[in-house]
Amino acid sequence: MYADNTPPSTPRAAITVPKLRQMKAEGERIASLTAYDAGFARAIDAAGMDAVLVGDSLGMVVQGHNSTLPVTVEDIVYHCACVARGLRKALLIADMPFQSYATPDLAIAAATAMLGRGGAGMVKLEGAGALLESIRFLAERDIPVCAHLGLTPQSVLKLGGYKVQGREETAAKRLLADAQAVAEAGADLLVLECVPSALAAEITRNLAIPTIGIGAGAGCDGQILVLHDLLGLNSGHRRPRFVKDFLAQGGSIDGALKAYVQAVKQGEFPSAEHSYDA
Ligand code: KIV
Repeated sequence: MYADNTPPSTPRAAITVPKLRQMKAEGERIASLTAYDAGFARAIDAAGMDAVLVGDSLGMVVQGHNSTLPVTVEDIVYHCACVARGLRKALLIADMPFQSYATPDLAIAAATAMLGRGGAGMVKLEGAGALLESIRFLAERDIPVCAHLGLTPQSVLKLGGYKVQGREETAAKRLLADAQAVAEAGADLLVLECVPSALAAEITRNLAIPTIGIGAGAGCDGQILVLHDLLGLNSGHRRPRFVKDFLAQGGSIDGALKAYVQAVKQGEFPSAEHSYDA
């Protein structure tokens, strides 16, 4: 395979932070997917994806671990640099691994590597509370931040498993408050994972920043899935309710990616079947 041109690895995305806000304001849904290498990144970008996440899910779907906890900053930087070479338009988001943003100093070091050597245009981190300090520290230094609330897989040891979050009234209130707090701390985007649809829709209405759902219903401003789940690959883990095999429908990898983008843009995915009730 001979490449006739090699895309630069520095950020050049047509989808920018202001563009994401504009999409929310205009009601255009944001289609996002994870990727871990240049080949898939090229296909995903060509399918019209708005944002691509190098998720720490790579610990499970690429490295074969049973959680995301063993993933390192260097793992994310390496896979980001690979993905960046395949992207032309989509915004590249780098996931910050477990404890790599536990303090503002750790967070800025990790984020600098991800934006610099990794070529990412945004970093993502899980949680609120004590982590608001790291979000604020990065945002005040002009590093775009995506927050992640609801089911935060890096908290699996405390949560005791991968479960829907925010079903009880106090938990729902805390999620609403945390969403407000991450936005006030300077986050530009918010991933909501495994949250009842009505709660995710309320959070989305309350915030000026866009929300991206995964198992959070159709009321979010956009959706994200793990690439392997979209392609129906069994990564050896229990298949969550929000997963849909788009390869079965699309007939080919390119067809599956395009079918997913179209389903998100038209508000057809997720349906109630792929969402959670309160
Ligand atoms: O690591 C990941 O892939 C993620 C998505 C599931 C949002 O955090």
